[in-house]
Amino acid sequence: MAKIIGLPGSLRTGSFNGMLLRAAAEMAPAGTTIEIESIEGIPVYNFDIEVEGIPPAVQRLKDRIVAADGLLLVSPEYNNSVPGPLKNAIDWLSRPPADIPKVFRNRPTGIIGASAGPSGTGLAQVAWLPVLRTLGVAPYFGGRVLVRSAKDVFDENGRLKDDTVRGQLQTYITGFSEFVEARRK
Ligand code: FNR
Repeated sequence: MAKIIGLPGSLRTGSFNGMLLRAAAEMAPAGTTIEIESIEGIPVYNFDIEVEGIPPAVQRLKDRIVAADGLLLVSPEYNNSVPGPLKNAIDWLSRPPADIPKVFRNRPTGIIGASAGPSGTGLAQVAWLPVLRTLGVAPYFGGRVLVRSAKDVFDENGRLKDDTVRGQLQTYITGFSEFVEARRK
């Protein structure tokens, strides 16, 4: 059974990226689970905090990722780039650097996202690439999910209502799950 940690980059209650991740988790093929995690409780990075000890919310998330087979980032786009809260979480997860190999190196990693506007997080997904390269993940480039005008894509209950997006997400999740399964240690 392959396990993927799904990490949404938004904390807000009505997050479109949270909705997208929940839809993705429901599409996981037999033999794969997508477990939804959170960046809640992770402080703004400060080396002074780090020397006191890795914060519990960070350590817990690190342990969850280490115990999984893959990582799916579901990232908003802020100012045509990566969103600060998720970047902050990834920065914490890369500490101490000695842990980078077990947390990130060769870890099958996908990135999808939803935006309120027309970009669909395309610029954010590109902006994540140098970060993912630095951490040495195994990136999944088998497809893209760029959800534009997200308020028209999800219904009032936060469920996916757009069949085109549903098909794109299903194709992505199927391909990413196969990618993860093929690289299980
Ligand atoms: C945004 N938003 C945004 N959208 C976009 O497509 N491109 C962008 O560059 C930005 N920039 C941006 C900056 C900041 C600081 C905020 C708060 C928002 C809008 C963004 O797509 C929208 O708020 C989404 O709803 C964020 O995702 P969640 O929270 O719904 O998951």
